[in-house]
Amino acid sequence: MRMMTSIGIQTSALRRVLREARCWIPNSLATSLLKKAISWEDAADFLKELKRLHARFRHPNVCDGCDEGDGLMKHEEVEVNTLVGDWRIIAKIARGFFGFVYKATNINSSVKATLKKAMKLEKAEGLLKEADIMKRLDHKNIVKLINVQEYQQCNQVVLIMEYMTGDPLSHRLAFQKNFSPNLALGIMKQMASAFAYMHSKNIVHRDIKLGNMLCNDQLEVKIIDLGLAFVSTQSKQLYDLRGTQGYMAPEIFFHNSYTGPPADVWSLGILFTQLLIGLEFDGLQIIKMSDDCTAYKVVYNPPPSASESLASLLTAMLHEKPVERLTRGGGLIPFSNCSI
Ligand SMILES: Nc1ncnc2c1ncn2[C@@H]1O[C@H](COP(=O)(O)OP(=O)(O)O)[C@@H](O)[C@H]1O
Ligand SMILES: [Mg+2]
Repeated sequence: MRMMTSIGIQTSALRRVLREARCWIPNSLATSLLKKAISWEDAADFLKELKRLHARFRHPNVCDGCDEGDGLMKHEEVEVNTLVGDWRIIAKIARGFFGFVYKATNINSSVKATLKKAMKLEKAEGLLKEADIMKRLDHKNIVKLINVQEYQQCNQVVLIMEYMTGDPLSHRLAFQKNFSPNLALGIMKQMASAFAYMHSKNIVHRDIKLGNMLCNDQLEVKIIDLGLAFVSTQSKQLYDLRGTQGYMAPEIFFHNSYTGPPADVWSLGILFTQLLIGLEFDGLQIIKMSDDCTAYKVVYNPPPSASESLASLLTAMLHEKPVERLTRGGGLIPFSNCSI
């Protein structure tokens, strides 16, 4: 039975089937299959090929032909002591959105690292994008990429990053006694410097929140989790709803188009205010909606502990209009001279 009659219909139908198939066929294979399939006259050939591939990739956790240690390449958790190249896993740190996060040690040098391994076939591509962004960044307050290990046969990707001791900033803010405004300002300066640098490279983080900042006992901060980051251009308008509620800029929240850096600056303004007020503050409190929910305005009162200069920087970060926010011309730089 002919299922598809014209090349046009065939192509769109194939695309749909392949989109669904991507969860068990590696991306590269799906793409080459699509290219080949367009020239096929009959859908039966295509379905036959798809069936053959399905049988081969039926078990997404199993990869034939990978000579790595047992279990490593499966898209599931791995045991302590497993070897990933020259890195031995010594502890599990977290289970994140893209994958599993482990602490590991180098078998030759004893250097520690953090490994992030894709938990599903379709997350591997996201990890590659994250690695690509990390490669472009070199700043003491942004976690560094050491290496990426890519296993193409089974679409597995492992990021090897600098290991950071300490806790997410949210933990520190919740549990550290005497989290003073002065201490908060020290952290703001480090982060303002890191984001000014990141934006100067046209990289936008898109998931700024306390949980994505690690802080050690010396109160050094490092930005992690570039999983949603992208390279922005002035002209590129974005529409997708990305980020974390409570930190999201109102233009994203209200599904307007947005460009990257101003949205980051908003989230950073929320985070800085939390450092001064506490975890009970979140961005939704300052976005006031009209009765019919079609419009909004921002009503922000800077924390009483902020000096005049700090208060005016925070207010500028949380400006209702993205173009007015502290973004242009080294907007975040004045933090370095700010006092509390
Ligand atoms: N370089 C690192 N050093 C130490 N711990 C890390 C590092 N990167 C991530 N982590 C830990 O793993 C958790 C999840 O990592 P993250 O990159 O935020 O993944 P996700 O995208 O899933 O949120 C973090 O909250 C942090 O506790
Ligand atoms: Mg995270």
